[in-house]
Amino acid sequence: MARARRGLFVTFEGGEGAGKTTQIARLARHLTAAGIDVVVTREPGGPTDGSLAQAAAIRRLLVEGEPGAWSARSEALLNYAQRIEHVERVIKPALARSTWVLCDRFADSTMAYQGYGHRLGRDFVLKLHRMCLGTFRPDATAILDLPVEAGLARALARPGAETRFERMDRSFHERLRRGFRAIARAEPRRCALIDASGDVASVSARIELALRKRLKARFPA
Ligand code: TMP
Repeated sequence: MARARRGLFVTFEGGEGAGKTTQIARLARHLTAAGIDVVVTREPGGPTDGSLAQAAAIRRLLVEGEPGAWSARSEALLNYAQRIEHVERVIKPALARSTWVLCDRFADSTMAYQGYGHRLGRDFVLKLHRMCLGTFRPDATAILDLPVEAGLARALARPGAETRFERMDRSFHERLRRGFRAIARAEPRRCALIDASGDVASVSARIELALRKRLKARFPA
């Protein structure tokens, strides 16, 4: 009997208010309708039901504190600590059962937020990634790009959404956007920079086109 094919690992990235959650839900529906098994998860913290307790505990440490509660290095390490557990206990086992994994944020967020936003630099984050996860990376990544003002306006309009990251100053968010754009330029075969402005359906169409280009025949019609 032919061996089942490994599932595909697709990540969504971008600044605050870019619409990742909505777009992931739409893609999950599209894939499920095509008969593909899908797991939706996120970082930091793993599945939103809290079933990965180690990662959920680290998420609370990261998002509930005041701005400046952690040094950028600690923040990067905490993100990688939860990421190791997430990859080993949730993501790799799902891929091995031929399930696709759609993840809201992954390693590119550490590069953008800690590497660029908090100025740890590319080298620190690349080395950390190699030490923690070797060459493991997503098969494709959609980086949702929006002007900073538009993203923050959307993020702050959500009820109860004011996390400490959203309270960072404007120049931080500008560095973040530059970081995500630099990641997309550095790895164009994996990463697509998606214009996240406009209505939800138009953004979905851009994402599908970009994923089909990268995942070829495995992306369902
Ligand atoms: P969320 O609001 O998208 O769920 O993510 C929580 C915050 O954590 C968000 O502002 C981005 C930030 N973050 C990092 O700073 N580094 C990381 O590696 C990840 C995954 C998220």
